[in-house]
Amino acid sequence: MTVAVRSFAKINLGLEIGPRRPDGFHGLRTVYQTIALHDRLRVEVARGIGIEIRSNDPRVPCDESNTCWRMAERAMKALKARGRVVIHIEKSLPVQGGLGGASSNAVATLLALERGLAKQLPSAERLRLAAEVGSDLPLFLVGGTVLGVGRGEQVYPLEDLPSLDCVIVTPEVGISTPQAFAEWDRRQEAGGRMQETGKLTAAAASDKLVGSSHAVCAWLSGSSTGVPAQRGGDRAEALLLDLVHAGIENDFESVVFPLHPELRRVKRALAGAGAGYASLSGSGSTVYGLFRSRELAQKAALRLGAEGMPAVATKTLTRREYWKRLRD
Ligand code: C5P
Repeated sequence: MTVAVRSFAKINLGLEIGPRRPDGFHGLRTVYQTIALHDRLRVEVARGIGIEIRSNDPRVPCDESNTCWRMAERAMKALKARGRVVIHIEKSLPVQGGLGGASSNAVATLLALERGLAKQLPSAERLRLAAEVGSDLPLFLVGGTVLGVGRGEQVYPLEDLPSLDCVIVTPEVGISTPQAFAEWDRRQEAGGRMQETGKLTAAAASDKLVGSSHAVCAWLSGSSTGVPAQRGGDRAEALLLDLVHAGIENDFESVVFPLHPELRRVKRALAGAGAGYASLSGSGSTVYGLFRSRELAQKAALRLGAEGMPAVATKTLTRREYWKRLRD
């Protein structure tokens, strides 16, 4: 049997980094939002044993370091299935781009295997497997607008934002997430030395996470109660204004922008082209802008493209659209 699925990308609407935990991960708070850009996967279970990965993109690893491999291994075991798993990844999303491509591919592998084998794991088991493979996987088992806490793997469906037009720009700069976290720590420690003790820094980081929860809450409740039930551009504009007013930001910008100033220029260019809100996604290198209309987003993508920035106009996906399109 062969099953074909779409594997969508995400952006982060704000990302607050907390203290480093004893397990080496960082506590964080973020709002994930799925978007329409996607890879395509074909997953086949044939006679035999083992896992094989093929991709049109030579940058995709085809060994056990691939998240799809790690998921296929776990999923076959959990589903008590046998066979040779062949995964074809038709890559359109950037590799290491901050759009969660590899994480999304792994979740797509799980969903395709379940469908192909006509078996389903309980959702708690799915979430457990996903979190084991990586912090950014579980969000793709929810889709739409998702709150991420813990190390990002604890996910809660939020009231979906309406579909928003956006422009995604991914400059050819490879950013490693572990390195970005390490650089964050280095800067925190340098800052912390000026404070009395390291403990104080950790406490301040925890407080900051609570503050960011309040900001997200203010933004989301402002948008659901403060904005009259308008359609289209007005509603999008009000939401974006709320987002800016709530002060929601991505902490990775303070680490990544000084190292790659061209990304800060992209953010400015998006704002200059009319984005209501612009930000780095994850640890980058993707920078996105949210726009109040499709027309504005398309114009902005053209303008940035003409200035040599690889920009594409797309839209955010609500939970319903995400699941519908994934299976179509
Ligand atoms: O979970 P994931 O495989 O995406 O994490 C990759 C690396 O990123 C981890 O090994 C860790 O170094 C870093 N990380 C972190 N804090 C998080 C998520 C990831 O320090 N919340």
